[in-house]
Amino acid sequence: MILLILGGLICIVVGLYIYARWNFGTLEKLGIPVVEHHPLLGSVKEMYKEVGALNDIKWMNKYGPVFGVYEGRYPHIYICDPELVRLICIKDADHFNGKRPLDFGDPVLNEMPDFQPLGKWKLIRTFLTPAFSSSKIRSMNTPMRESIKEYVADLKESIKKTKKGVLEKVAYTFPFLRKFLPSSILNAEAVKRFSIIFKQMMEQRRKSGEKKNDVVDMCIEWADKLDTPKMREEGITTTLYYIATNPEIAKKAYAEVDAVFQRNNGIITHESIPELVYINVCINESLRLYPFFYRTERECTKEWRNEKYNLTVKKGMIIQLPSWAANRNPEYNEDPEKYDPERWMPENKDRINVYSSTSFGHGPRNCIGKSFSTEAMPLLAAYMLRELKFVGRKDSEIKFKPGGPFF
Ligand code: HEM
Repeated sequence: MILLILGGLICIVVGLYIYARWNFGTLEKLGIPVVEHHPLLGSVKEMYKEVGALNDIKWMNKYGPVFGVYEGRYPHIYICDPELVRLICIKDADHFNGKRPLDFGDPVLNEMPDFQPLGKWKLIRTFLTPAFSSSKIRSMNTPMRESIKEYVADLKESIKKTKKGVLEKVAYTFPFLRKFLPSSILNAEAVKRFSIIFKQMMEQRRKSGEKKNDVVDMCIEWADKLDTPKMREEGITTTLYYIATNPEIAKKAYAEVDAVFQRNNGIITHESIPELVYINVCINESLRLYPFFYRTERECTKEWRNEKYNLTVKKGMIIQLPSWAANRNPEYNEDPEKYDPERWMPENKDRINVYSSTSFGHGPRNCIGKSFSTEAMPLLAAYMLRELKFVGRKDSEIKFKPGGPFF
């Protein structure tokens, strides 16, 4: 009997061992470098437990722009090459139109369009697209501006009121310091800014009873069903950090904001946002270095072969676009770790490969909120810079915490 139980246990262990390692070797057969991994767990620890985005950079620097990673037993191909990004996301997107339906353990998060299988995604995307048209975004400028003004006024008030004013001021600029502050400050966490503004816009719309069939109406409609998708503003936080810690950048940014407000009688409209050239390039550079959505993916739904790259992707394999790494590919970004807004200036346009930055993704499954973000972020930055002076401390530094697989 004991022998029988022992035999059964050995069979289970051997079976699990074979199952865990079943796909190992598939990436190596493609002829691409493969990240060293645990004999059973793949590279899952580095992917999820460490600061995943920093690992991606480390891997790209070690293995080059195309490499394989085993997420547990599953083979993933990481792409940091802009031409391959273009082929996968746009030209041959019909081979890569899947995404894994992930279970976040939360019924609301599980409904996010980004993680829906093809059929459901198409329905949601078709429904959402009209809300992000340029005319809808233009019509949102006024309520957005009003909410931002209100938000900045509240922010100033709370800074004035607090006894720990200096500390709070610094903490607004360097969010990691907030963990040392009393809990009241958490209410003003930068991460909540967009959602506060958006909630105010929704409230104003509810009160006015207006119907514009735009993203605000839609969010009102969906508020109880869906997550208001990612109103994050890491672009703003890091932009303000660099402004606070670089006098040269600060000088240009403040001068531009003053000039644009002056030229436009104290109001930044949809039409005057492009005048914020320097603010926009600073935001672009922050989004290049620290996009909050640090990895996006495509599932291969039809085997794909490319002769030039001598690369075959098998059906079912996952393509990862690791933004932090891809956006730092040294072949396309001189001095990739340097915060250098100038690289985005109009006169350098010809030197930019649009597919070398994957912060908003590309192609049919790209970020639908890009137009919303590129309206809201410069607006928010301009109104904050008009009212507040951001000053960095010498010992400040950016630190990262391990997070989930995508954010
Ligand atoms: C700086 C701000 C933002 C960044 C960096 C960002 C980034 C991204 C990225 C990388 C993706 C995946 C794209 C791909 O796989 O190719 C995505 C998807 C998405 N984003 Fe954003 N996003 C931002 C703001 C927003 C906002 C403000 C909204 C809504 C108002 C939004 C709504 C969405 C939606 C709905 C998807 C899924 C699209 C689909 O699967 O069709 N995002 N975002």
